[in-house]
Parts: sequence; C-alpha cells; structure tokens
Amino acid sequence: MPDRPLVVLDCDPGHDDALAMVVAARFCDLAGVTTVAGNAPLSRTTYNARVMRELLGVDVEVHAGAARPLVAEAHAAASIHGASGLDGADLPAPSRPVDSEDAVRFIVDTCRRNEGVTIVATGPLTNVALALRAAPDLAGRIAGISIMGGGSFGNRTPVAEFNIWADPEAAAIVFHTAAAGELGGPLTMAGLDVTHRFQATPDRIAAVDAIGGLLARTLADLLRFFSSAYEGRHDPGTMAGAAMHDPLAVLALTHPHLFTVAERHVTVETAWGASTRGMTVIDERTLVERAAPNARVLVDVDADGAFAVLVDAVASFS
Ligand code: BDR
Ligand code: CA
Repeated sequence: MPDRPLVVLDCDPGHDDALAMVVAARFCDLAGVTTVAGNAPLSRTTYNARVMRELLGVDVEVHAGAARPLVAEAHAAASIHGASGLDGADLPAPSRPVDSEDAVRFIVDTCRRNEGVTIVATGPLTNVALALRAAPDLAGRIAGISIMGGGSFGNRTPVAEFNIWADPEAAAIVFHTAAAGELGGPLTMAGLDVTHRFQATPDRIAAVDAIGGLLARTLADLLRFFSSAYEGRHDPGTMAGAAMHDPLAVLALTHPHLFTVAERHVTVETAWGASTRGMTVIDERTLVERAAPNARVLVDVDADGAFAVLVDAVASFS
C-alpha cells in the first residue's frame, strides 16, 4: 500500500462519515466521494458531503449514488444522526453542486482509469455492490475494499449493525466477491467490536474544539450531538460517548499499526423474516475444515493513537 492510498470514499454522512472524510482528505489521495442513502435520505447525505467538501476546502468530486438499497426499503437513522443526517451544528450552505448523479459510473470509471484504487465504504454497500455487478472486471482491478460494518454484535438489531442491516443483499455481494477470490486486494472490516472501542468522550470532543476555526468547531458541535444521542439511547454508564465508527475504515488503510487484525471467513445473513437478517456471521472456529478467510476483521484499536491522528487531520484543515 502506498503512503497515500488512492481512495474512493463511499459514504452516507452522517457524523462519523464526516470524520472519515476529514481523515481521508488528510491521509489519502481522494479520487472522489460517492454518496448513498443510509443515515439520511440520499439528497441529504449528498448535501452533507458537499458541506464537508467546502468546510475542508478540498477540490474533490462528489457523486450521488443509490437512493435506496438493492431489495429492502430505505430506513434512515434519524434517532442517532437527526433528520438531516448531520444535526447539531450550523452548517454553511455549500455552493458547489454535485458532480453527477451516477456514483456507480464514477466508481467504475475511476477504478478502470487508475491502478490500485481502494474503495472505503462507510455506509450501506449498495453503490459498491452495484459497481461490482455493473463491471465484472472491477473486482480484480481494485486494491481492496475497507468497510465500516458488521461485527459480532449488532446495533440496529441484537445481531445486525446498521450499514449491513440497511442493505444485506449488497453486503452479501461484497463478502461473496471476496470469498470467491475475485478481489484484487483485501476486504477489511471495521465492525462494532473495534468501533465501540473508539468513543467520542468529552475530553476528546474538547480537544477537537480546542483546535479552533470553523471546521473544528463544527465537528465538535457535531460530536456533542452524536455523543448525546448515543448516551441517551444506551443504559447509563455504558457509553462514554458516541462510537466514532467510520474513520476507522480509513485509518485501517493509512495507519495499520494502530489495529489488531484477525483473518476470518465472514458471510452475511440475508434471510427475510429471520431475526438474524443483516448479521455478519464471523467464523471464529479453529476447526481445520472451516472456510478460508475472506476478510481482515479489525478486532482492536489503539484508541488514543487513532484519536491523535484524527486531531492531526482536523488541525491540518483548520
Ligand atoms: C454505522 O451506521 C451509521 O449510523 C454510522 O455512520 C456508521 O457508518 C454504525 O453502525
Ligand atoms: Ca456511515
């Protein structure tokens, strides 16, 4: 992996997606940002990506993608992110329009024109699955896929994490493509096991605020809202702040020394009506006849180290 990986960030901003965009802009060559319906409807996740582009002051294209999952209906996550997907801060209205309404075409073209693109996906995997289906040569061309999603426990249901639960059929295509050995690089999974170890504690939010400037102050406001949503929705004392899920999918590429990783075989439960729909089934067995690993599952993170990197990223644009 080069020092600055060439990345398409596919996201549904989303408080933690916004942080992922900051980290990607700082440490990756950002080939483009694509948006998907997830935390909020597509029109809003796209708007939010445009807001973040202008707050960062970066010249990167933003392409709008799928407005709904492959099979399921769209269900936003307003209870965590607010109706706008980025509640909690006064967001400056963006002036630059969206660059296209065809994120899937953008992903395919970008991966064909450039060697070694990594797709970082921090929302439902709809755009990624559609791109893999639309261009059979795509899987083999890319340098890998790094996702935030799944885990050995759930948040949207007892066993299903939101991004996988929102579009299990899309996630199944991604994991299956990796299992078939068709991906040109690894599939890396930042699931809840690792992201719940990276929380936006009051001290950490204060450190972001202390950077000063519009970007940092906006991010601190967003994190305060995000953390209070998390704390309000969990038993008292169980969360010290919101889990800052999505930047870890970027940091897994750019700062791999911060993570402990396990090679695992992972499948996605897609059965309708089952209480396990959207679950990532992670094979932890040591039986020799288990299926070969198809994913690099992040199991632990140096949270203080990762937060220091995040602060560096925010400060670099402030
Ligand atoms: C994931 O769902 C969204 O709410 C977050 O942005 C993150 O990508 C966590 O389950
Ligand atoms: Ca997200």
